[in-house]
Amino acid sequence: MIRKFRMADLEPIVKIEEQAFPKQPYSRSTFLYFASAYPANFLVYLEATKIAGYLIYYPSGHIVSIAVHPAYRRRGVGTKLVATVLKRTGGCAMVEVRERNETARKFYTHLGFSMYTVIPAYYGDEDAVVMVRSVRTGTI
Ligand SMILES: CC(C)(COP(=O)(O)OP(=O)(O)OC[C@H]1O[C@@H](n2cnc3c(N)ncnc32)[C@H](O)[C@@H]1OP(=O)(O)O)[C@@H](O)C(=O)NCCC(=O)NCCS
Repeated sequence: MIRKFRMADLEPIVKIEEQAFPKQPYSRSTFLYFASAYPANFLVYLEATKIAGYLIYYPSGHIVSIAVHPAYRRRGVGTKLVATVLKRTGGCAMVEVRERNETARKFYTHLGFSMYTVIPAYYGDEDAVVMVRSVRTGTI
């Protein structure tokens, strides 16, 4: 089940975040900012009562962040989160991905995104690959 973020989700999401992005995890205050500024766009995926993953996006379809708990990966959780965004945007979305994050690049390619450009040193220590999905490129 996918629903909007609730305050009680904060600690489990911070744990998922720290495992997913050990170098530069979002802080509690960053999550609270998005929950307050974009409440409809901070999605949480629940497997029974456990939080399996989250996704934050801007209304334009710009994906800010997505992470799935390691125990729930390769089970379609990330796909369902992104599919929720695509349903709301008519199939269009974009995202910046760390150049060396092969898993994320394969994930977005699988969902119909293509490489658009590279932003040098976007993350300070690493370039970003900008990936875009237009209405016609994907199947979900
Ligand atoms: C990227 C991430 C969100 C994917 O979530 P997920 O729930 O495991 O993804 P799905 O199960 O929906 O995968 C869909 C498809 O993406 C591709 N994919 C996902 N993980 C992959 C991996 N480790 N290696 C290769 N392909 C992969 C596959 O094509 C997969 O389909 P398949 O399982 O039928 O082969 C997850 O790996 C994660 O949280 N990573 C750490 C955080 C991160 O890098 N976020 C993205 C930053 S922009």
